[in-house]
Amino acid sequence: MASERNNAEPSHANATPAMSTTAGGAPPADSFNPAPRTVAEALQQARAAGLDRLDAQLIVCTVLGVSRAWVLAHGSDPLPAEHLARLLDWLRRRASGEPFAYLQGEKEFFGLLLRVTPDTLVPRPDTETLVHWALNLLPEGQPSRVADLGTGSGAIALAIAQQRPQAQVTAVDFSAGALAVALDNARRHALTNVRGLQGSWFAPLAGERFELIVSNPPYIAEGDHHLAALRHEPLTALTSGPDGLDDLRQIVRHAPAHLAPGGWLLLEHGHDQAAEVQQLLQAAGFTEVSTRFDLGGNPRCTGGKWH
Ligand SMILES: C[S@@+](CC[C@H](N)C(=O)[O-])C[C@H]1O[C@@H](n2cnc3c(N)ncnc32)[C@H](O)[C@@H]1O
Repeated sequence: MASERNNAEPSHANATPAMSTTAGGAPPADSFNPAPRTVAEALQQARAAGLDRLDAQLIVCTVLGVSRAWVLAHGSDPLPAEHLARLLDWLRRRASGEPFAYLQGEKEFFGLLLRVTPDTLVPRPDTETLVHWALNLLPEGQPSRVADLGTGSGAIALAIAQQRPQAQVTAVDFSAGALAVALDNARRHALTNVRGLQGSWFAPLAGERFELIVSNPPYIAEGDHHLAALRHEPLTALTSGPDGLDDLRQIVRHAPAHLAPGGWLLLEHGHDQAAEVQQLLQAAGFTEVSTRFDLGGNPRCTGGKWH
């Protein structure tokens, strides 16, 4: 997706809004009426609807099944009638801010092509920081028990399961829709070392312990202005109380009862929450508490070891 993210934004907020509104806030006139006749007209109308040029080109490429070079060289070609309805649907939806991944129904994460639906957050590249850290802690060829809390599309759980076939990975989500997508993704990638459990955080894990617990929970504060750009993604995957830390607090509080001695808890959080999450972990008795940075240089994950 052709999206630029401001470093000051929380990672969950990296969807690019592509909205056009009129000065009075009224819905804009339909820029795609009358329907475009040529490739160039479709691109012009998409720009008029507020779409970024690269986004519009990518949609034309994907729907028509052509390369970007083709799009640039064939502006005057008529739009094939059989693709018109889908093309206009995608351009309109993208112009209203829907992530490109929902239009395509898939998103790549850690080399895995994952199905995504409106039940799941679109996995973010920043979350790969958490996966790299998890893999550092899981020696190759050794059995281990791993839990991914709030699995969504299964991104973190499946990346770990694929890279560490000896690990038994438990993916938890309280959303039945998200869990179904995660398990479908596991099946598509033939990852048989993943199981899914529906429930809130540790509730489905009574009496179980893990060498590693990872989570990318909701961490945006309710009322944060970035939420306006995320209205197509499930709110329950994004917000967590007035300061965004409610779910992180719950996970830190209950994790010790589910960690094996020497086990680790790794948490993704907002770019400005590292100090608070470090304090939470230290206060709960974790040791070796530290933070890792994402590719944009933002403190993105904090973790600690249970003694
Ligand atoms: C920020 S998304 C992360 C999704 C995925 N792990 C990723 O990194 O792309 C948070 C996920 O937590 C789930 N969730 C929210 N509250 C939960 C709870 N109390 N118990 C379990 N899962 C929860 C949401 O349904 C959502 O799938």
